[in-house]
Amino acid sequence: MNAQRVLVAYGSKHGATAGIAEEIGRSLRDDGFEVVVAPAQDVDDVRGYDGVVLGGSLYAGRWNNRARRCAERNGEHLRHRPVWLFSSGPVDGSAEQRDLTPVRDAARAMERVGAREHVTFGGSITATTPGLLARILVRQGKAGDFRNPERIRTWARQIGAELAVTR
Ligand SMILES: Cc1cc2nc3c(=O)[nH]c(=O)nc-3n(C[C@H](O)[C@H](O)[C@H](O)COP(=O)(O)O)c2cc1C
Repeated sequence: MNAQRVLVAYGSKHGATAGIAEEIGRSLRDDGFEVVVAPAQDVDDVRGYDGVVLGGSLYAGRWNNRARRCAERNGEHLRHRPVWLFSSGPVDGSAEQRDLTPVRDAARAMERVGAREHVTFGGSITATTPGLLARILVRQGKAGDFRNPERIRTWARQIGAELAVTR
């Protein structure tokens, strides 16, 4: 039997969300899926996939524009396959402590594509992150990498398990 194909698309400004997408992709590959990990802005056709994961970073309470537009552009075909959304944001432990409500753009995207689930993962700001706020947070010792590979992989394994029963 051919492996199911999964697309993991991401809207990322400075690479942290791309890293989460890669981790999801690795986990799904380990579980036997054929996976493509791609920037959301490059996704014009999702018809070749059995399932889609779409993530975006959070800036000032907004879901990444490229992820949002990807959901809009491909909405019709996304509605006809299982889709999972994620956000990458909090640079503290909050995403680990409770389920965070998706921001408005992500909630709208969920509705548009009929997503099965949305999850928020911790984000990352480091000394190499450009911008004034990032510099200030780093200087104040409030920055850091709050992405948790184990939590990300656990979620990816759940997606794999759900996909396995849809075939
Ligand atoms: C200027 C700025 C604004 C941010 N605003 C938010 C926010 O509103 N909510 C949130 O959870 N995280 C916020 N973050 C944290 C980012 O979402 C986090 O660093 C994320 O991992 C960035 O992903 P990216 O590197 O893929 O763009 C902000 C970060 C910066 C630098």
